[in-house]
Amino acid sequence: MHGSSPPLTGSDVSPAELIAARPQLSRHALDGLMLEGVPLAAIAAELGTPTYVYSAETLRSRYAALIAALAAADLEGQIRYAVKANDHLAILRLLGGLGAGADVVSEGELLRALVAGIPAERIVFSGVGKSRDELAHALEARIGQINIESTEELDDLSELVGHLGRAARVALRVNPDVDAGTHAKITTGRAQDKFGIPAGLIPSLYARAAALPGIIPVGLALHIGSQVLSLAPFRKSFAVLAGLARGLRAANLPLERLDCGGGLGVPYANEPAPGPNGLAGALGRAFRGLGVELLLEPGRWLVAPAGLLLATVVRVKSGRERPFVVLDAGMNDLMRPALYDAWHGIVPVAVTDGEPIGGADVVGPICESADLFARNRPLPRLCPGDRVAVLDTGAYGRVMASSYNARPLAAEAMVSGERWAMIRPRQPFQDLWAKERVPDWL
Ligand code: LLP
Repeated sequence: MHGSSPPLTGSDVSPAELIAARPQLSRHALDGLMLEGVPLAAIAAELGTPTYVYSAETLRSRYAALIAALAAADLEGQIRYAVKANDHLAILRLLGGLGAGADVVSEGELLRALVAGIPAERIVFSGVGKSRDELAHALEARIGQINIESTEELDDLSELVGHLGRAARVALRVNPDVDAGTHAKITTGRAQDKFGIPAGLIPSLYARAAALPGIIPVGLALHIGSQVLSLAPFRKSFAVLAGLARGLRAANLPLERLDCGGGLGVPYANEPAPGPNGLAGALGRAFRGLGVELLLEPGRWLVAPAGLLLATVVRVKSGRERPFVVLDAGMNDLMRPALYDAWHGIVPVAVTDGEPIGGADVVGPICESADLFARNRPLPRLCPGDRVAVLDTGAYGRVMASSYNARPLAAEAMVSGERWAMIRPRQPFQDLWAKERVPDWL
């Protein structure tokens, strides 16, 4: 990643340092790499690879840390987990059970959240392209908040509210024109980005919304980007939001909540990161005393470190400058390196003598040069059949996977303490073509 995040090459953080910084991981003298109390080799032996594995305890403790940070800053805040980061029902069920609501961006995500038992009033619907059908379904489900991204969307919603006779609680999403300093493909709060409504248009649009029958404006929303590792862009955009909120209050418009979006970054390569306490500090400075409820829409921060992708070394191929370690997981399983030059830790599962012996290019089997997980990564000696874990892949991993090259979607498992369970079987080959129809005139 650019800016504050490291690129695909260049970070020399060792497997031992990666493990030491992640409380859910440990290396057992006999069993090798453990996730909580479960040897990852046992899961790989039973389910094969590639397999995503998630740590329930990591989800629980990260959720608790977020709530504690808000409480310590004396803020009234609620979590609306960004379902797009990982939409597995087990994860939604776990987070929903802890009290999280959901931030959804499609009818599919809305249905997933409801099926997982998240109450409708704790669901927020975001996104620039909600269709009229999707808005209608959201109204029928009586969800808690619809984040409006344009004047045009407000008009559509107002018409639907009239037809369906269902009121809508809405927040207007502000585009604060702030650069989040993250990768260009995941920055969302600059004026040229498609998201939100320019701050200058908010006061009049909010007043208009308040006058529309069946439209209940509850507040403002914001999301400036993802994998944000510095507090400065948060502070800037929160200041814009607080200024607008004061203006609405001064105009006697109803305002009960501010939805501050997601975006909090995680230290993929052990780099410094603000964490929930830093974020809560910025929230406190901007909003304390305003008498509003705060919503947060974290995705990555909650789930990325809770997940890893287990893969097996297929072959070690000699290369001109260094060896290629070819895995059985590819860019179809984990898109982030190919799409964003994202850096993910790669750690051997078996007991090794530990220390890296030299750099390798870690690649997948897909027929594209972009199918590259790491370039010149210092790794211990690896042989065909050895397993590795690609770390911090709980967010934007399995949800972005495809069956490109006719590769079935990976299996998934969850661990909790010393227990583990398969939570989705590997997709069977027949599924790849089961729904295809060949016209009889062929
Ligand atoms: N709220 C809204 C309106 C969003 O668009 C997003 C993410 C979030 C919350 C959650 O952001 P988070 O806390 O996870 O940063 N596929 C990319 C990330 C795309 C994020 C899109 N929006 C990646 O793998 O890095």
